[in-house]
Amino acid sequence: MPITFDQQHHVFKLDTSVSTYAFMVYQENYLVHLYYGAKLPDTDLSYLMYRGKFDSLSPYNPKVEDLFFSPDIQPFEYPTNGAGDFRISALSVRGGSGDAVTDIRYVSHKIYDGKPSLPGLPATFAQEGQAQTLEVETVDAVTGVKSTLLYTVFEDYPVITRSVRLENGGEAPVVLERAYSSCVELPTMDLDMVHLWGKWWNENNTERRALQHGITSIQSKRGMTGSNHNPFVAFAHPSTTEESGEVWGMNFIYSGNFAIDTEVDTRGTTRVLMGINPTDFRWRLEPGESFQTPEAVLVYSDKGLGAMSRTFHHFYLDHLCRSEWAKKKRPLLINSWEAAFFDFDDDKLVAFAQEAKKLGIEMLVMDDGWFGTRNDDLRGLGDWYVNEKKLKGGLSHLIERVNALGLKFGIWYEPEMVNPDSDLYRAHPDWAIRAKGREHSISRYQCVLDMTRKDVRDNIFQQMYNVLSQNKIDYIKWDCNRNITEAASATLPPERQGEFFHRYVLGVYDLMDRITTAFPHILLENCSSGGCRFDAGMLYYAPQIWTSDCTDPIERLTIQFGASLCYPVAAMGAHVSANSRASVKTRGVVAMSGTFGYELDPRTELTDEEREVVLQQVADYHKYYDLIHFGDLYRLTAPTENPYLADWQFVSPDKNEALFCRVIMRRPPNLYQSVCLAGLDPDKIYVDEETGKAYSGALLMHGGIDLSAYDYANNYDGDSFMKHFVVR
Ligand code: DGJ
Repeated sequence: MPITFDQQHHVFKLDTSVSTYAFMVYQENYLVHLYYGAKLPDTDLSYLMYRGKFDSLSPYNPKVEDLFFSPDIQPFEYPTNGAGDFRISALSVRGGSGDAVTDIRYVSHKIYDGKPSLPGLPATFAQEGQAQTLEVETVDAVTGVKSTLLYTVFEDYPVITRSVRLENGGEAPVVLERAYSSCVELPTMDLDMVHLWGKWWNENNTERRALQHGITSIQSKRGMTGSNHNPFVAFAHPSTTEESGEVWGMNFIYSGNFAIDTEVDTRGTTRVLMGINPTDFRWRLEPGESFQTPEAVLVYSDKGLGAMSRTFHHFYLDHLCRSEWAKKKRPLLINSWEAAFFDFDDDKLVAFAQEAKKLGIEMLVMDDGWFGTRNDDLRGLGDWYVNEKKLKGGLSHLIERVNALGLKFGIWYEPEMVNPDSDLYRAHPDWAIRAKGREHSISRYQCVLDMTRKDVRDNIFQQMYNVLSQNKIDYIKWDCNRNITEAASATLPPERQGEFFHRYVLGVYDLMDRITTAFPHILLENCSSGGCRFDAGMLYYAPQIWTSDCTDPIERLTIQFGASLCYPVAAMGAHVSANSRASVKTRGVVAMSGTFGYELDPRTELTDEEREVVLQQVADYHKYYDLIHFGDLYRLTAPTENPYLADWQFVSPDKNEALFCRVIMRRPPNLYQSVCLAGLDPDKIYVDEETGKAYSGALLMHGGIDLSAYDYANNYDGDSFMKHFVVR
């Protein structure tokens, strides 16, 4: 049983294959956290609740017969505001009396097989026998608010998911001012924090820094997750490396305003909260109403950051991406954006498809510009009907022509947005988000639609449905190119305006749910000016996300290495474009460690020589598809740590195959610089497919691979290669 409750010591123990998470019901029904780390056999862990000394300013509860217990010191499962714990709190409820004192105590619990879904929210799922769930009910005696803490343990992964269901069981309305999804209490500050920061065109830079006293917050208040900070964080000992040492990885399944707050208190212990950003969040609960927080995913690894990442990758493909495409081979696509921008018509697209077909490409994606009066980015968003001046003969006719060539067809949408110069805006100016009495800001000439409103969602759904149901569409790119300002909804009363941001995200999820439920066969790719909404919430609906508008492979190394800390290669949209100094070969090596596709004019932007390279890439794409997308990723040499080159590798689940990839960014001092592979079976004999030479797995992992025959010639700058090893 992965979840147990020790009646004698009142300890809950949540075991995965490699980790234990434990907390207890203490005197006066406080829920005290005890432990999260390597797997333990014991259940009496109660001494672990003492992580500091009571001092003269420590508040205490006189009913607790323990002179050393103070809410200000003890680690808590779900810390609350104003009742003696001065650290950051996960829950703060303003009750009918107007104060925000919140104090939850244990009431009951239940343990059951399976994993509940979370109403209206993306969340992990499990088939029968794959997971066990613990629900711990608590209550705040004064407001009557019940907080039910949900924990799910997965049989096949070192993963625990957490969320909280809050219900107003009192008689007066209350307001949730903070309602985080998880709290992790680590007993030390001797840790590094690893997180991803960035900006448009430069997403997912990895930052690793030592924790210091005080509060650090990684967050968004843009209405979307944004590329500035990803809702992922990991904590590792300073000595932890890619393949050794302990790591606690945390990711939030949410696509809106989030916060990951870390407090190192003066005793040198660390509290990490993950949840909806409390800035601009107020949620009113009438008696009997409830609120479900989004889900947090916790991964423990005792084998470094690499093992943590591999857990996230496989876990998300198995237990988060619900699309039928999650583990299916995706069609190799060519996208029209960088090839044509808005300047296309049906004949040009068919000409792209004809040329693409010769290269072995399987799907044409028509990007922005096919609808309304959209001939530039000044107008048209919101008018989701076909521009027949561009697509003469209509969309079906175009698709028939593309299909006749043997290619599938995909289409672009930006459903949450509207241009003031559009029929939709002219008919419904009030549907664009704006606060009462204020103008709305403009960004990329567009406004955001009020997705909290069902009538708005219904309109967009219907417009999309008309196109999708009348045409043979295999793929949608769902874009989102601005953030939310002047946030308010005309349909919410003043006391509920604090609910706007979360309701917006719920609205987007509702629309995505309706589209993906109505058209389950359509492959959905999420996008937000590249990777500005690259998060696990989106992965629930869309098994792939456009990682960045930057398609230069050298820049992409950093972006994709960073994203791979948490997100699977199979989720990372990556294309070969014409927008790079690097060779087409190198562009392919990097894009292949993503979903892979092309984004260039296949008629004019490839030389004959490059066409040959593309034909080889397409063959490699098919050959290595499963190995790359469903194998294990090992980051061998990070582009941020080595100024000259980046190395990475894939290993098949049965360890019978490995693919090594290298990109040379600058001329290295040693052209033959070797590298040790990882993750192989030491006893198996691997043959280098290129040279025919055989090596034991042990030799490749400890002696390194033989690069002496490799001819870098003078073309070292932006050069690359892949090496395939197969067990004899
Ligand atoms: C931003 C996306 O990231 C691009 O790939 C492209 O789809 C444009 N939007 C279209 O406007």
